[in-house]
Amino acid sequence: MRKFLLSQGVSEDLLNGVDEFIEKHELNEEYRYRIPKIKYKYYGKKTWEKAIAAILSGDNILLSGPKATGKNVLAENLAYLFKRPLWTISLNITSDPSSLIGSDTFKNNEVILKKGPVYEAAEQGGFAVFDEINMAKNEALSVVHSTLDYRRVIDVSGYGRLNLNDATRFIATMNYGYIGTRDLNEALVSRFLVIDMPTIAESDLEKLFKENTNLNKNAIKIFTKLFLDLQEKSLNSEISSKAIDLRGLLSSIELMNKGLGIRDSLELGIVDKTFDSYEREIVTDVIDTLFIKNIERADLFEG
Ligand SMILES: Nc1ncnc2c1ncn2[C@@H]1O[C@H](COP(=O)(O)OP(=O)(O)O)[C@@H](O)[C@H]1O
Ligand SMILES: [Mg+2]
Repeated sequence: MRKFLLSQGVSEDLLNGVDEFIEKHELNEEYRYRIPKIKYKYYGKKTWEKAIAAILSGDNILLSGPKATGKNVLAENLAYLFKRPLWTISLNITSDPSSLIGSDTFKNNEVILKKGPVYEAAEQGGFAVFDEINMAKNEALSVVHSTLDYRRVIDVSGYGRLNLNDATRFIATMNYGYIGTRDLNEALVSRFLVIDMPTIAESDLEKLFKENTNLNKNAIKIFTKLFLDLQEKSLNSEISSKAIDLRGLLSSIELMNKGLGIRDSLELGIVDKTFDSYEREIVTDVIDTLFIKNIERADLFEG
């Protein structure tokens, strides 16, 4: 990971800070399995630097931006980089305080606390992701206000208070720019440093294809253009973000590599991710423009 980050241009001072952080904070071996395994690396030097610096300074971060800008990928990459166990909490309108902190449960005729993800992350020095935090009701989140600010405590009525482990950090994600998103209340935003997530740069996308596929130079250009064109259409609200799926695109490329035709592969990984026929047509049009009729599978891969 260090090598990758250096090749991205991430400052060595920050990476030394990461090493110190890892050295300083013990890990409970029982939770090692929660350190995510990374299949896809996050690309974007500036964002990496902001996120690493914020974590080193003891801050929580809010990743905000359009869908498919790699917010979850970055959150997992961060837990992996800092070697901390990760808890991801998907928030929605029905999320309540007990789904974060925990709830009463019976064990051997005794009432005990069944620890929720925030509680466990607080104890174990984990990173906890509040995924799509703006989907939750403010009341659900007000219980973690004291957890997220300088007090760094969890108050559980009946169980006393827990001071956060030094290594604990919270990473919230928030999508904006599509219907159904709510704004986040100020009290909450003030407890995070905000990282505005950029869309992936063309040069980074090319690097990503180079490192994750055996496409040839020309094909890398085509697939890069495909992703960027679809992304632009999504940002302009011509289509939803369902087809803006880099993982799906990489899977399509793998299918082609295995022997499935170009168009069938793209249907599986991209086109049919959206269930709206009008949207599918737009996506298919973009594909037709970039992949000329007589292009063959074999033309795409390194010989
Ligand atoms: N900068 C980036 N680096 C790596 N992958 C990215 C980047 N931007 C987008 N992606 C890809 O976009 C897709 C969506 O990523 P995800 O983390 O789920 O986005 P979000 O949570 O922002 O909606 C994934 O396939 C991811 O690999
Ligand atoms: Mg997400």
